[in-house]
Amino acid sequence: MHFNLLTLFPEMFPASLGQSISGKALDKGLWSYECVAIRDFAANKHKSVDGAPFGGGAGMVMRPDVIESALLSITKEKQGRKIYMSPRGKLLTQGLVKELSQEPEITILCGRYEGVDQRVLDAHEFEEISIGDYVLSGGEPAALIVMDACIRLLDGVMGNISTPDEESFSNGLLEYPHYTKPAKWNDMTVPEILTSGHHKNIKAWRQERSEEITKKRRPDIWKEYLGEIQNSHEGN
Ligand code: ADE
Repeated sequence: MHFNLLTLFPEMFPASLGQSISGKALDKGLWSYECVAIRDFAANKHKSVDGAPFGGGAGMVMRPDVIESALLSITKEKQGRKIYMSPRGKLLTQGLVKELSQEPEITILCGRYEGVDQRVLDAHEFEEISIGDYVLSGGEPAALIVMDACIRLLDGVMGNISTPDEESFSNGLLEYPHYTKPAKWNDMTVPEILTSGHHKNIKAWRQERSEEITKKRRPDIWKEYLGEIQNSHEGN
């Protein structure tokens, strides 16, 4: 999988993605990235990439002509799906991550200031994606999150470290709690069932804990899960 990153701050990549599992995968060539420094495409002698918003208001807006030149420096075939990181976008979910991780190429536009001129988003059909209901100072950390979530799903990246079907969201529930050595720590023991060796009971216990946690912490996900179970019982 290849990521093109349109950014004013190419030094912000690969950041944490150069470490640990994603860093090893980068070294192995399981994914790659290229930064396009938007400022290199500023045409005027001041190298300006932004302007005051028409209609007034606070902050500056990134210019459509500069962003377009940066985008067109990547050939059409290599642009792949075009994404603009924005708190106004569609919320990133594990389902969307799975879908994105199957793309061979993705181009991510990282905004700064108040955002980017709407016309360039419309003209090039950028999909807007948000990583959550809060506002960051720019799209770069959001892009890193999208990339991290995709990279760990690529073939050969996690090996057998994770069990994708059991982790949070993949089966429609939050994950059950985990325990390891020592069996007794600060007067706290491990739930007995986990040391019983009875796999069927362990599986049932984990399922119950997952359901309990989801119901309590994320009623939105719980409701969706119940709906899906009902549908599957009705044979849909
Ligand atoms: N840029 C600023 N805030 C953001 C968010 N919540 N998601 C994606 N991109 C952003």
